[in-house]
Amino acid sequence: MSDKKTSNAMWGGRFAAGPDAIMEAINASIGFDKRMAKQDIQGSRAHAAMLAACGIINDKDAKAIEEGLLTVLSEIERGEFPFSVALEDIHMNIESRLTDLIGEPAGRLHTARSRNDQVATDFKLWVRDQFDACITALDALMLAFLGQAEAGVNFVMPGFTHLQVAQPVTWGHHMLAYVEMFARDKSRMIDARARMNTSPLGAAALAGTSFPIDRDMTSKALGFDRPAANSLDAVSDRDFALDFLSAASICATHLSRMAEELVIWSSAQFKFVTISDRFSTGSSIMPQKKNPDAAELIRAKVGRINGSLIALLTIMKGLPLTYSKDMQEDKEQVFDAADSLMLALAAMTGMMQDMRPNEAELRAAAVTGFSTATDLADWLVRALNMPFRNAHHVTGALVKMAEDQGCDLHELTLAQMQSAESRINAGVYDVLGVDNSVASRQSFGGTAPENVRAQIDQWKARLT
Ligand code: ARG
Repeated sequence: MSDKKTSNAMWGGRFAAGPDAIMEAINASIGFDKRMAKQDIQGSRAHAAMLAACGIINDKDAKAIEEGLLTVLSEIERGEFPFSVALEDIHMNIESRLTDLIGEPAGRLHTARSRNDQVATDFKLWVRDQFDACITALDALMLAFLGQAEAGVNFVMPGFTHLQVAQPVTWGHHMLAYVEMFARDKSRMIDARARMNTSPLGAAALAGTSFPIDRDMTSKALGFDRPAANSLDAVSDRDFALDFLSAASICATHLSRMAEELVIWSSAQFKFVTISDRFSTGSSIMPQKKNPDAAELIRAKVGRINGSLIALLTIMKGLPLTYSKDMQEDKEQVFDAADSLMLALAAMTGMMQDMRPNEAELRAAAVTGFSTATDLADWLVRALNMPFRNAHHVTGALVKMAEDQGCDLHELTLAQMQSAESRINAGVYDVLGVDNSVASRQSFGGTAPENVRAQIDQWKARLT
């Protein structure tokens, strides 16, 4: 049936018949690569201007192409562009529309160019914009964490290992731990953006072109640092997409860890924080419920984003140089991951701006679970000159004693303490309080409020 269809106007010269409907369905990418319309027009305008500057097309044709492309752009922006599946992809849709609009000169645009360097260029421009958007979003997120750190710089809370109470830490310190993570995410994105910023345009199908083109000119016009040096690599490289997905996966991993903390912290058992109504949902049956859905969805997004990374790694694995149609599958992975990450970043930023830490509950949790046992052991080392291993042992015995009596370490009497180690004196009680514990941890990178304040000042200077 589809034999009756005319063959493709863009490449149908050697074809007697049009594609089968199934062929068209598996081949077409216009359903998703229309998202690169702006980039495609940007690339074509740079290419046409260069062709004219190099005397490959005349100025009159170049002007017609330029004006026609601007018309196409405004049609797309107004939502009036007639996208066609039969025209496969965004490149051929735009060229075909340009032909409708300006006629013969449109046919000169594809001189010294192939869809292979064209798609690589468009996609790089799109991914580059996405790196920039993520970097901006990460700045906003870090500022939200910084605001939390500043508001609760010396709130005391339990620090956990194995999700068991370990040692008291400050809220500000915990918030700044995430600032460190997101700053690494940002620097990963900045690195990847710098690495990818070479122009594939002019690599043509794979081997370069016999026309006297100026690749520096198009590279510059499109904001690239330089033309990609090897035409084979230029059309077959998708490292920039993999770099984006891997940076996105790591960033989403960080988001998911915070999201998990929010789920735990906002539970009735913890009550460490209150998530605002703006970022919570209710239950259709249980009137009392306020659920941390945004946090849960952020926690889940990493699954999709990791999936996209693995999908594209698997798509690219084993592909011979240079372009293969497999590579058309790159875009949906990156688009979906980018959308998911941007949404997760925005949701986490909103939640962190609104979230209220519950100072009293944080403190109450910090004093339970023998959180200052290490302080006690350290005191034995300092005051009694005990080797740390022995101090650990004595402290363990005291923890056991307190546990058996159902009390905390500071509630043991001096006589009870001395039954484990006779030289213990009343000075020990000074280190058993959580405030003293955190204040004492002034080693570089430690949790003391003094340290945290200094770190906050540094981050503020860096981020604002
Ligand atoms: N739609 C294609 C893609 O996304 C464009 C490149 C097509 N090149 C080709 N030689 N068929 O990869």
